[in-house]
Amino acid sequence: MTMHLAFDVYGTLVNPQGMATHLQQDAGPAAAEVSQLWRQKQLEFSFRRGLMRVYEDFGVCTRQALRHAMASSGFSMSAVREDELMDAYLTLPAFDDAAPVLEQLGDRYPRFAFSNGSYPALEKVLGHNHLLEHLDGLVSVDDIRSFKPDPAVYAHARRATGAMDQPLCLVSCNGWDVIGARASGLLAVWVQRDPEVVFEDWGLAPSAVIPDLHGLPEALATLDAR
Ligand code: LAC
Repeated sequence: MTMHLAFDVYGTLVNPQGMATHLQQDAGPAAAEVSQLWRQKQLEFSFRRGLMRVYEDFGVCTRQALRHAMASSGFSMSAVREDELMDAYLTLPAFDDAAPVLEQLGDRYPRFAFSNGSYPALEKVLGHNHLLEHLDGLVSVDDIRSFKPDPAVYAHARRATGAMDQPLCLVSCNGWDVIGARASGLLAVWVQRDPEVVFEDWGLAPSAVIPDLHGLPEALATLDAR
């Protein structure tokens, strides 16, 4: 039995808050706030599209969330600027721990990116950050046209990674993603990058909690030994 690893992308391997730097030009001191609202709305729109069964790829959620975040914060944005910001989203910066830890785990575990993002978007952002070479494959929800935390998406990850009935472990900074994976019978490590974020108590605890990806090899060794 080989444990397979499924890494969430946005928030775990790459940092969506990297958009705050770009948004300074548009929103000045409110840039970080607009960036946070953008991310929050992007996720909310994906959850709602999943429930409503009106799937459009994650890029559509991202674009519509950007428009809403800007408009509701009182900022205007030209069509050209919107395209520029959407392009910048494809080159979000990676967290510093992503490449070294993915590389370190390569000898032992099959490693997949597992994301709401479409394949072209994932190839772009992971390629830009030289993370593709440390992954054994990509799994996008686009295959089944739904979004995390639909249980169908986690079941798809089991098939698409080839884990099947071997253990599959999600690695994610997003608490709601961890809860979704645990509810679907996956192992899930929560990466608590921000010590002030409290894990939501649904009675579905993470399999392990680590402050950043450097803690992952040890956490996986403990899970492996169980
Ligand atoms: C992802 C988002 C939800 O990469 O963070 O799936």
